Amino acid sequence: MKRFILSAVVSLALGVGVAVVNAEEARVETPYDSPVRVEMRLLDPAFKNLLDSLILNKPEAIKAPFIAVHKALGNTDAALKKGEVKVPRNNDKMKEFKEMDEKFHKLLEQVIAASNKRDMKKVQAITHKIIDGCVQCHSQYLY
Ligand code: HEC
Repeated sequence: MKRFILSAVVSLALGVGVAVVNAEEARVETPYDSPVRVEMRLLDPAFKNLLDSLILNKPEAIKAPFIAVHKALGNTDAALKKGEVKVPRNNDKMKEFKEMDEKFHKLLEQVIAASNKRDMKKVQAITHKIIDGCVQCHSQYLY
């Protein structure tokens, strides 16, 4: 009985080890200047500024940091079209990535349009969708 339990524990440990190794192998090391990473590093503060502006009721402050994001996402789109984009995970699912990316960009356009109209109820509703978009995409392509 003891021996059985021991071997079960050992094979469980080995099994888990193998799974981890496979997951590691599937990950791609992307360059620091990859267009997605460049876009993300601009998107990150723009999104945090959106949260602050929503919480402090400052619709006029929302748009400015998204202008740089807009330029960067033009570069990402061009690289995606050429098939040059690599992401840390699921590189065989780039069609879905593109679709998710396009939907996400539409949300950014909508939140800026709502902020231009000073419609903070709408800004809030779209901001919820945006954060879902960040998490959904990262859970498939980043971690
Ligand atoms: C359509 C997919 C997608 C969406 C939507 C998305 N991300 Fe990302 N993000 C990625 C991918 C892919 C990476 C990993 C890039 C890499 O390491 O090559 C990433 C990486 C990042 C990074 C790390 C950048 C770096 O220098 O390595 C930050 C920060 C980030 N995202 C923030 C956000 C925030 C905030 C949102 C939402 C407002 C968001 N992302 C929405 C796909 C997405």
